[in-house]
Amino acid sequence: MNLDKVVCNCLNVTNGMIKDAVDAGASTLEEVQEKTGAGTVCGACLEEVQRVVDFFVKERE
Ligand code: FES
Repeated sequence: MNLDKVVCNCLNVTNGMIKDAVDAGASTLEEVQEKTGAGTVCGACLEEVQRVVDFFVKERE
């Protein structure tokens, strides 16, 4: 996983920023959206954001 890769182009949210949000306690798409804003503008990235959230939540467990 490339942590510098941008997942949400609208807000320049990277894989690493999603990882930080998950490490800080976010476990769902909604919680990551609150912390990062990812997926809250056009919504085109939502599926990918969800995939990345699930990946890091699993890794955290
Ligand atoms: S690309 Fe993420 S909200 Fe637009």
